[in-house]
Amino acid sequence: MKSIGVGLLGLGTVGTGVVKIIKNHQDKLMHQIGCPIEVKKILVKNVNKEREVEIDPSILTTNINDVIEHPEVDVVIEVMGGVEETKKHLLAALRNKKHVVTANKDLVAVYGSEIHACASENRCDFYYEASVAGGIPILRGLVDGLASDKITKLMGIVNGTTNFILTKMSKNGSPYEEVLAEAQSLGFAEADPTSDVEGLDAARKMAILSTLGFSMNIDLKDVSVKGISQITEEDLNYSKRLGYTMKLIGIAKQDGEKVEVSVQPTLLPDEHPLSAVNDEYNAVYVYGEAVGETMFYGPGAGGLPTATAIVSDLVVVMKNMRLGVNGRTIVSPQYEKSLKENSE
Ligand code: NDP
Ligand code: HSE
Repeated sequence: MKSIGVGLLGLGTVGTGVVKIIKNHQDKLMHQIGCPIEVKKILVKNVNKEREVEIDPSILTTNINDVIEHPEVDVVIEVMGGVEETKKHLLAALRNKKHVVTANKDLVAVYGSEIHACASENRCDFYYEASVAGGIPILRGLVDGLASDKITKLMGIVNGTTNFILTKMSKNGSPYEEVLAEAQSLGFAEADPTSDVEGLDAARKMAILSTLGFSMNIDLKDVSVKGISQITEEDLNYSKRLGYTMKLIGIAKQDGEKVEVSVQPTLLPDEHPLSAVNDEYNAVYVYGEAVGETMFYGPGAGGLPTATAIVSDLVVVMKNMRLGVNGRTIVSPQYEKSLKENSE
C-alpha cells in the first residue's frame, strides 16, 4: 500500500508534536485515510541537536530542497516560523505540487491570500487551522460549523503566553519576568516573545479569524494593538478587588460595511465566561445573528495541542487527494473567488 509522504519544515515544540501524533495515532489515521503516513524528510537548523523523539538521523537535513523537491513528499508541513524566507519556501513547494499545511500565523496574516492564490493555481491545498488558538478547531468551527449564520462579533483570548502570564501574576502573585521565562521554557512563547507580550501575535490571529468570520480581507495594519508589558501586579490586584479580571482580549465587530478589530488588555466582570479561561488556554466567543453566543475553548499553545490541528489538516488534505478535489483551503468558495480576483 502506498504511503502518504510528509516533509516537515522544523522539529521544535510543534514539529515534535506532529511526529508524535503521526506515530502514536497511526491506527486512527489509517482508519480515516486508508493508508499510512510517512515522514520522509525534516528541515532543521542543527542536525546534531538532541531530539525529544526518536528520528532516523538520515531524514534530517539543512537543505530546503531536500524537502520541497523530494519525489515522495506529497505534503509539506511548515512549523519552523519566520516570514519572508518561509514564504519563498512555501511558494516553491506549491509550485513543486506539494500541498502545504502551516501553523504560522505571522505568515498567514500577511501573505495568506498570495499563498492561497499560488496553491489554487497549482491545484494544491493550503490549510492553516493551527495558526489560531492552537488545538481549538476554531477556523473550521467558524467557516463550516457556522456557515449558515451571520457573524456579528468575535471576542477572544487568542494568545496563550499572555494569558499564562496574567493568570500566574494574578493568582500566585508571580513576577512578570519569572512567568514569561516559564512560558518560554514550556514552549508557548514565540522565538521573540515581544510579539506575544506586545499583542502582535494576538493581532495576527484576530486578522485571520475576522477575515474568515466576516468573509472579507482584514488587513493586519488596520488592527489596533496594545499588549500587556505595562500591566503591573498592582493593576491586577486592584481589578480583582473591584470584581474584574484582566485579560488580553481581541475584539472584531461589524460596523456597517466595515469590521473594526482591536487587541488590548481588558477588564472583564468576574462572571464573564472569558474570565474563567486560565493559563495557556484560549477561548473565542462568537456572536451569531441566529445562533446567539457560542464559546470555543481549549489549549491555545503547546506542542501536542497545536499538532492535533496540523495533523487534522493533513487528514483533510489526504481526503481531498482521495476525492481528487485538491486546490482547496479553509475558506468558502465565494470568498476564495474574491481572493483570487484580488490577487489578479
Ligand atoms: P521552535 O523554535 O520550537 O522550533 C522551530 C524549528 O524550526 C526547530 O526545529 C528549528 O531547527 C527549525 N528552524 C527554524 N528556523 C530554521 C531555518 N532557518 N532553517 C532550518 N530550520 C529552522 O518553534 P515552535 O515549534 O514553537 O513554533 C513553530 C511555528 O509554529 C511558529 O510559526 C509558531 O508561531 C507556530 N506555533 C507555535 C505554537 C506553540 O505553542 N509553540 C502554537 C501555534 C503555532 P532546530 O531544531 O535545529 O533549531
Ligand atoms: N506564542 C503563541 C501563544 C503560540 O502563546 O499563543 C500559539 O500560537
